[in-house]
Amino acid sequence: LHILVLMGGWANEREVSLMSGNGVADALESAGHTVTRLDMDRDVAARIAAAAPDVVFNALHGVPGEDGTVQGMLDLMGVPYTHSGLATSVVAIDKELTKQALVPHGIPMPGGRVVKSTELFKADPVARPYVLKPVNEGSSVGVAIITDEGNYGNPISAQAKGPWQDFESLLAEPYIRGRELTTAVIDEGGKARALGVTELIIASGFYDFEHKYTEGQTTHVFPAEIPENIAALCRRYAEDAHRTLGCRGTSRTDFRWDDERGEDGLFVLETNTQPGMTPLSLVPEQARYCDIAYPDLCELIVEEALH
Ligand code: DAL
Ligand code: MG
Repeated sequence: LHILVLMGGWANEREVSLMSGNGVADALESAGHTVTRLDMDRDVAARIAAAAPDVVFNALHGVPGEDGTVQGMLDLMGVPYTHSGLATSVVAIDKELTKQALVPHGIPMPGGRVVKSTELFKADPVARPYVLKPVNEGSSVGVAIITDEGNYGNPISAQAKGPWQDFESLLAEPYIRGRELTTAVIDEGGKARALGVTELIIASGFYDFEHKYTEGQTTHVFPAEIPENIAALCRRYAEDAHRTLGCRGTSRTDFRWDDERGEDGLFVLETNTQPGMTPLSLVPEQARYCDIAYPDLCELIVEEALH
């Protein structure tokens, strides 16, 4: 096949996407495909039309590669592409819309509300400790945890410096103590299959951008050392989320688990429709443990696009 790997762009996660895209491109080349690598710019439609690939492998993260914009463009062009389609992407990139879609289906997610960043100076939107995050970023870009111990004053003072300043709207969610878990889902012949559960253990602080992409900052434990009923719930919620949102190819659902509260302490934070695809990323790692080598995973995702 002639596969165009779309990566980079101008998102905050540009560098992560370049790593995903180059990893995928190397793997697809080694599997015998003809690969065009494209670092996305504003002329992306013309560049794809000129290359005339059989399929686009979408290795973009964040906006506009993960939010439906690129998906809509490719739909208009009539070019098949990997991962989720337009409507799914629009909902899944938005953490508040995701809640509205998943909670009625019995998938537990933390409460909280969307606030304008200027409102933060008037009052805490929810009780501390809470998490402030942009509604539509990935890789923990812009995430802050507000605690009583934080030096932010109460409420966050107009002088306090923090990532919330860069975003107009933010989601404020109660902070869930405990453990960080994640489950990859892949489609096999159009059927969603959860691969397993990884626990992310960090030395200190929280699982932020630096911990995600600096070698040695985070330990991945697979399979997570958690009770089987919690692991089973993670697999079920991840598959349910994948199906409910209408994801395609692969997705990865992230959890917090308050281990003092048993099953009631498990919460879905979000479902990623364009999960990291560097050879060391979580989805490829879980696939490897399930005897799906990285190049095979990339090809499987391409097959789902052509289904
Ligand atoms: N947003 C990053 C790439 C992830 O979900 O893996
Ligand atoms: Mg994400």
